[in-house]
Amino acid sequence: METTQPQMMQADYDGDHYTRWRHERLSLISRYYPRYYFQGKTVLECGAAYGHIGRIFANSGATVTCTDQYEGWVDIITARHPMVQALQQDLIDPWPFTTPFDVIVSMGVLYHLPYTHAEQHIIDCCTNCNDLILETDTIAHEHPHVILDVPKPPIEHQWEPVTTNYCLPSVPYVERVLSANNFSFYRVPCGGGGRHLWFCKRCPS
Ligand SMILES: C[S@@+](CC[C@H](N)C(=O)[O-])C[C@H]1O[C@@H](n2cnc3c(N)ncnc32)[C@H](O)[C@@H]1O
Repeated sequence: METTQPQMMQADYDGDHYTRWRHERLSLISRYYPRYYFQGKTVLECGAAYGHIGRIFANSGATVTCTDQYEGWVDIITARHPMVQALQQDLIDPWPFTTPFDVIVSMGVLYHLPYTHAEQHIIDCCTNCNDLILETDTIAHEHPHVILDVPKPPIEHQWEPVTTNYCLPSVPYVERVLSANNFSFYRVPCGGGGRHLWFCKRCPS
């Protein structure tokens, strides 16, 4: 029997790799934030794919919006997590929301953007929330303006964005943009390689 696209997506994102990755990040998040921190808060998850992470925040009492550039994910989130609002949003486009969120979650998506859009994505997040949970792959480099433009291998999945390149910012690159936008942060390694997770908070004015 032919495997359908949603089945392939499920196998990929529900498979061991993503399950372990998700558990690791959720466990770090639950250790960093006090219990009930997300209760009553508005949360936006960017590049949500299956919306698993968003659903966990909804289960914690948050009002959650999940977005992804691929409408297939939006349909799946809507079907599987009706407590979450799912919308199509391409992070390359101008920011579509007119009201800010309490919390923005951007995990596993920054490096999918063209290098020309990575800084703007961090700025968009910082402009539109008080707490940002940011996770991305990075390149080991000390310079705060280094960001690599990496050709993607031949497209792995038909639902991936039609961009041809990944971007890999240095850790100082990410932290420069956060600081310039008035956010303090705490960084933890996450998932091996150059992956890091930042817990970021708007500094009081
Ligand atoms: C590796 S998955 C991460 C999924 C989820 N955030 C997680 O952490 O488990 C990357 C997701 O980012 C989405 N994505 C990639 N480029 C995007 C873009 N330009 N705008 C919005 N979403 C994008 C992909 O469709 C995919 O669902």
